[in-house]
This record gives sequence, structure tokens and C-alpha cells, in this order.
Amino acid sequence: MTKIHSAAVLGAGTMGSQIAAHLANAGIPVLLLDLDRQTAAAGLNKAKKLTPSPFFTHQVETLISIGGFETDLARLRQVDWIIEAIVEQIDVKRELLAKVETHRSPTTIVSSNTSGISLTSLAENRSNAFRQHWLGTHFFNPPRYLHLLELIPTVDTKTSVIDRISDFASHALGKGIVIAKDTPSFIANRIGIYDVTRILNFFVKGEFTIEEIDAMTGSIMGRTKSATFRTLDIVGIDVLADVALDLTTRLNTEDERLKFKLPLIVEQMVQRGWIGQKSGQGFYKKEIDHEIRKILTLDPSTMLYRKHKTPNLAPLEATKSIDDFRERLRVLFLGNDLVGKFIRATLGQTLLYAANISNEISYSINDIDRAMRWGFGWHLGPFELWDTIGVESILESCDIKETPELIRDLKQTNRIRKFRPGILPPAQPDLQILRRKKEEQPLVKRNDSANLVDLGDGVLAVEFHSKMNTIGQDAIEMLSLGIAEAELNFEALVVGNDDSNFCTGANLTIILTEAQNRHWKEIDLMIKAFQSVVASLRHTTVPVIVSPSGFTLGGGCELSLHGDRLQSASETYMGLVEVKVGLIPAGGGTKELLIRNTSRIPAGAKEPFPYIKHAFELISFAKVSTSALHAKELGFLNDVDGITMNRERLMSDAKLTALELAKKGYQPPQSLHNIKVEGDGVRSALELGIHLAFRAGYISEHDVLIGRKIAKILAGGDLPHSTHVSDQYLLDLEREAFLSLCGETKTQERIAYTLKTGKTLRN
Ligand code: NAI
Repeated sequence: MTKIHSAAVLGAGTMGSQIAAHLANAGIPVLLLDLDRQTAAAGLNKAKKLTPSPFFTHQVETLISIGGFETDLARLRQVDWIIEAIVEQIDVKRELLAKVETHRSPTTIVSSNTSGISLTSLAENRSNAFRQHWLGTHFFNPPRYLHLLELIPTVDTKTSVIDRISDFASHALGKGIVIAKDTPSFIANRIGIYDVTRILNFFVKGEFTIEEIDAMTGSIMGRTKSATFRTLDIVGIDVLADVALDLTTRLNTEDERLKFKLPLIVEQMVQRGWIGQKSGQGFYKKEIDHEIRKILTLDPSTMLYRKHKTPNLAPLEATKSIDDFRERLRVLFLGNDLVGKFIRATLGQTLLYAANISNEISYSINDIDRAMRWGFGWHLGPFELWDTIGVESILESCDIKETPELIRDLKQTNRIRKFRPGILPPAQPDLQILRRKKEEQPLVKRNDSANLVDLGDGVLAVEFHSKMNTIGQDAIEMLSLGIAEAELNFEALVVGNDDSNFCTGANLTIILTEAQNRHWKEIDLMIKAFQSVVASLRHTTVPVIVSPSGFTLGGGCELSLHGDRLQSASETYMGLVEVKVGLIPAGGGTKELLIRNTSRIPAGAKEPFPYIKHAFELISFAKVSTSALHAKELGFLNDVDGITMNRERLMSDAKLTALELAKKGYQPPQSLHNIKVEGDGVRSALELGIHLAFRAGYISEHDVLIGRKIAKILAGGDLPHSTHVSDQYLLDLEREAFLSLCGETKTQERIAYTLKTGKTLRN
């Protein structure tokens, strides 16, 4: 299959500039065009300033070149894929596509990011050849972070074109691919907006407050924490109004169109400019009163903002103790109370609607589930919810007179996972292999914090599953068992998971308890155990691949630094953040950064200080990477380490790397005894920096204490200039510093504060 090597994006607005950024993240040179060069430049600049950034690193930005439609269309001939992302107006888009046709090369794929215009009608006057290479590629905002990409082929689109784009988007852009039929607003927005409309219609009846609806439609319903109204404020109420308006104009029947008519309040809010976060107010409003931040809530009956009211809904309280969200949702859905009534009138109707239109909008109900999970952050898609709550229960409790045909079929076959023939995204057996292996076969071992899973082909995986994936005694024990098991019965070991975060560090609750009880010996043993297990990872006879993803902090980062090779998810936020809780990295992290940075000193360089200073800054500023590529720049990842763009493919890429190393005849590295340390000179220079930062008021006295301890380790303790030491010597220095800091009241205060609030105490 011909790969995509270069791309052009037409339109440098909200979506175009960010899609260009994400193509650049994938290492693809991008031509970004708009009305003229200046408009394109302005659009790109705006994207560069967004937070969170659409770019992995600043370096990536240089892959984008800009131009204007009047002057640069001829450059389109050189690109493999052209994505149109200009204003949502059919005539304007058609006019531009006519020009594009005269400039594209015969194999160039052209797609549109339209949110809802028919792809068939956009290409109506284009040639056959154009239409064969034409499809919809609907990214969700923000395109770097939202996993969903809807592909909308027309009857003319060649299968090879669909395959080429799905393959590229899944591997290189990391997207979750769903194939949608060419109907207004495709899959996710059609169902998502239908659902929001049901919720808003219920809201204006006045039976529930905004806070109450958010309490019912957030994590309780298996949705994002920002639930309904906070999500609308983030997305923009004007955006909601636009997409709903589109549906009320484009759908085929009057009956269908009416379903998307939003209550009047939405229009009133748009008219007042109360469109959410970007205008400072929407359903909620942030206010600062005497330096205290307050969140006010809109009262729809007066259109005034009032004080926040903590929701108090008895059925929600009563079901709090049900841990499994599926079971809780089932109980709530079927409840004979106000909450049950609300959920049935909103979610219940949405489930019914999804069943009724599934055939019209998709080729497979699985695509509908995926679209809602990946595009709207639902934990379960509509058909997974039919399964969870139960077909009979839904039909009965919602008093459904006319059972949708699809559901009638399902009742007969007694099975909801039902594929229909049609265009499906190519089968991707390399996605989520860990989850699949766990479904197919028993675990090799398990305890409360971690599992050992046989990944097949001689590769064993250690998977953490403790709360927030923190490392405590159990996790350390399972790592040791994993190493022993791998040496005996496997060819390679992978440490990783299918979760959003790899590991958020040591279990601080245990450290704090031991420190408050002055159990120094226990803490010492804990550090020794962790140091020893990461050393075993490094020196075991089989290759070890560590697969960080999401938050990879503190001990999680140290563990990663000890893998033979890293296969990292592109969205990896990695750093040694111990100083934030008044500690230092003592699981070999300080030692490892020293070795890594001094090994980068070019031969013959006179001044090693900048390299050691870099290690010092990473630790003392608790720097966290904003992407895996950024982690490479910072030096947490080595050049040879791999990056996987699609989170769901991470474990299978790690497995491949593991087998590759094993096949090459893996030899473990030896313990080091010849690490050169710089001694006094470097220590004084670092301490001078610390002193100056303190004098300037940047850091606290406690920061000074911690900083001096880091400086001591990085300089090699009390040794003279250019002495050689072993890695064990450096580990001992780490342990000594860690232990002494545990005894500091200010460190204990920092830990307690972070455990309680999740934030950092600056004391
Ligand atoms: P935007 O308004 O931010 O950007 C549109 C761009 O089109 C601007 O850079 C503008 O200079 C250019 N433009 C304006 N008039 C033009 C003309 N006559 N000829 C050529 N170019 C012209 O819009 P946005 O939000 O980036 O949307 C772009 C496309 O992406 C639309 O089709 C929209 O439906 C779709 N979309 C938008 C999403 C969103 O959240 N904003 C999400 C998914 C799809």
C-alpha cells in the first residue's frame, strides 16, 4: 500500500491548523493554505499558542509551511493527501474543490473535514478519477487529543483509498477509525447531539438544577467527569447550536429534523454571547471574589447567575456504594424515582434512537459504540449499554411501543454483538493485545497491584492495576516474580498496560505513614527493594521493554529509565516529580540521569557542567514532558526508543521490539563501576545556583535543602574531582538523601497536602 509521505491542509482555522499540527506530530511535512499567506500564518500562530498544545514539540512546528489559495495551489501536485477544512459552506467548498482538481496528481487523495455536509454532493461536479480518491475525514476537536476519526466514503471511493487512509490514520496519526455512511453529521454528532437535546429538553422543564443534571450525567452514567453542562461550556454553546441547526436543516424528514430543535435558552445564550469558557460564561461562570475563585451557576428562570448548589439526589447517594458503574447505572436506570425517570427520558431515548438509525448511519453497531466512546468520552457505547442494562429491562421500563427492528433481531438471536456485512475498518488484531490475552486465557500470576500476562510468542507482560497504578510492595513483588518467570519460561519481558496512565509513582500513603511513625528502617527497606528490582530489570538475562504512557511519574519514570528499550505512547507525560512532595528520586532515577547526561558529553569537551546541570534541572524543577517526543528532547527517552502513536497498539509494538531484541541474541549490560563524578567543583556550582534562586525569592528554604541533596548526589558525594564510582555507590547516596528528607516536617506536610488535594504545597 502506498504510504502517505506528505500532506496539505486547506484552511488554517480552528481545525485546519490543528490537523496540520497533528500531521506534523507524525513527522509528515505539511503545506497549510488559507485565503492568503497572512491568513494562513495567523491561523498557524494561533494554533502555536493553544493550551494544551496541538504540537508535540516546538521542533515539530518547522514541518509546516504556509501559503495562499491564490498563489500556492500548484504546490498541491506534490502531496499525497489533501484535507479540506475551510468554512462550512457548501458552495465555497465546491468552488475550492474544483480548483484543487486541476492541481492534484492522479494518485492524490482529497478529503473534507466537513462536520455534516454530504460528501457525495460536495464532489458532484468532479471527475470520476477525483471521486474515486475522495472521502470524508472527520476529525474531532482537539484533533491531537480526541481519538475518533470518522471516515466517510461515498459509493465512488475506491476501497484502496479507504484502506490507505485508515492505515495511515491508525498507525501514524494514532486515530481510532470508524466508517460512517454519508448522512448528515455522520455517527458521533448525530447520536451525541440527539442525546444532548433530550437532556436540554428535560432541563427546561425545571425539575432539576444544572448541578443535579451534571451529577446524573457524568461518571455515574459512564461519561466524562465534566458531564453535560461543563462539557458544553468547554466545547462552546455556539458550536452546539451550529451542529444542531445543521441537523434541523439537512435531515430528510420533518419528523427527524424536529428531534434536533434545541430549547429556546440555547439561542438566548448565544445571542447574549454566553457561549461558555471562551467568553467567560455559559451554564457556569467563574468569578473572583476577594481573591477567592468561585463558580456560579445559571438559573434559567431568571437568566441570572447564582451561588453553586451542591446536588443532593437520594438515588445517587443510595447507589454510591455500588462500585461497578455498570451495575450502578442499571439500578439507577430502572429506579422508580425522579432520577430513573430522567435517565430513561434521556439515555433511554438515545439508546432507542441509536437502535432505530444504526442501519441508516453505519455499517456496524460496533462502529457506533466506538464513535461514542472515542468522540464523546462515553465509557460504553449505546449497544454496550443495551447489553449492560438489558434489552427486556429497557423495552419495559421505557414503555417502548414499537421495538426497533434491530432489537427484535437481537432478541431472537439473543445476542447483541452482531456485525452486518458492509465496509468495516480493516481488522486490526494488533490493537489492545493485553486486554484480549486476558480475556482468552488465565493470568500467569496476580496480586492486588499487578498481573503477569502471557502475551504469546515467548513474551511476558507485567501490568500494574493498583489505584492510579502506584508502586507499593505488591507491585515490586510482582515485578520480581515477573523477572524470575521471564528468565525461566519466556524470551522477553514487557512492563506496561492498556490503561490511560502507566504509573504515577510510589505509594505516598505508605511512605507518609511510615515517616510519621518514624519507621526509618521500613522506609530504608522499601527503597532498597525498589532499587533492587529496577536493577534486576536492567541486568536480567532477558530483554526488558518498558512501555510508558500517560502519566509516568516519579517511580514510574525511574522504572522506565531502567528498561533496555522503551516503547512509549506518543502521549506520555514523564518526569521525576519527587521534589514536589519534598523528596528526591531514589529508585535509581538521580543516578540514571547523571549517567545518561554525562555519557552525552562529547569527547574532549572541557566543560561537563552544563550536562550535569541539565540533570539537576530536570529533577529540581520536576520537569514533566508534554509528549513522548518531548521526553526524547529532555533525555528521558533515548534516540533508539520507539514511539507508538496509537495508544491501543502500544503493547503489541512493545512485544515486537522485545522479540526483535531477543532474536538478536540479547546480552544484559553489566553493573557499572567506572562512573566518573565531578566532585566539589560541580557541587559548588550547583549550590551557587540554588543560593541565587533562593536570594531571588524563586525557591523556599526547604527547596534549598532538597536542591543541595540532589547536588550532592550528582557531584558524587564528598569525593574529589574525576573520581570513578559504582552505580551502587550512587544508589546509596540516593537512599541516604531520601531517608533524611522523610524525617523533615516540611516534606511530610508536602506529602500530606498532595495526598489530600492532588496539588503541590509550596512550603
Ligand atoms: P474556522 O472558521 O476556524 O476556519 C475556517 C477557515 O476557512 C478560516 O481559516 C478561513 O480563513 C477560511 N475561509 C473563510 N472563507 C473562505 C472562503 N471563502 N474560501 C476559502 N477559505 C475560506 O472553521 P473550523 O472550525 O476550523 O472548521 C473548518 C471545517 O471543519 C468546517 O467544515 C467544520 O464544519 C469542520 N469541523 C469543525 C470542528 C470544530 O470543532 N470547529 C470539528 C469538526 C469539523
